[in-house]
Amino acid sequence: MAKVHQIDHPLIQHKLAIIRDQNTGAKEFRELLEEVSMLMAYEVTRDFPVEEIEVETPVATARCHTTNNTKIAVIPILRAGLGMVGGILKLIPTAKVGHIGVYRDPESLQPIEYYCKLPADVSERELIVLDPMLATGGSAVAGIHFLKQRGATKIRLVCLIAAPEGIQNLQAKHPDVDLYVAAIDERLNSHGYIVPGLGDAGDRLFGTK
Ligand code: PRP
Ligand code: URA
Repeated sequence: MAKVHQIDHPLIQHKLAIIRDQNTGAKEFRELLEEVSMLMAYEVTRDFPVEEIEVETPVATARCHTTNNTKIAVIPILRAGLGMVGGILKLIPTAKVGHIGVYRDPESLQPIEYYCKLPADVSERELIVLDPMLATGGSAVAGIHFLKQRGATKIRLVCLIAAPEGIQNLQAKHPDVDLYVAAIDERLNSHGYIVPGLGDAGDRLFGTK
């Protein structure tokens, strides 16, 4: 069964409170989402493999560790996942970036896939899938399915806010994919929005409503 890691560091909780506020505009929303993503990256990558190397300091040889041989790709689910990419790349600048386009049909709430461009060696990489909202879980489940169809095996999902319904769905469909979240909210409303959530992440990020 996939693990759920809730990262409730005080700085993340503080920034998330501002992100949730309906009076926070797109500029600040973008900046804070990037900052929170960067802070989350620290925990998301905690168990990544390292190799021992020797480094010559001005004084002596130091036994150090490097992630140089760990191939990593960051996969935002369009659109809102884009808002998390910059924060992760600040900490892992050599990661490749793949894109998956999935949107949720507003009537049926079913995920519609419309784009997929991934690094060629996606099956060899540690994949960090990004989407701020895990509501019904349909978009993330479909995006991860896409990745597995192309041979990916090492996948973790990073969300800002998850609903219990989305977590259940993810665990049922992808029991091998660990989830990292800043907050687990109460429930979904009748329109499939997370309560209390933050509203529509894509619209708030890009100022489209
Ligand atoms: C939002 C969000 C997730 C999805 C979550 O995207 O960014 O991808 O909804 O809902 P789900 O868990 O019920 O699938 P949206 O469909 O609004 O597309 P957008 O990012 O292009 O606006
Ligand atoms: N998508 C969002 O952007 N917000 C929600 O609350 C649910 C789905």
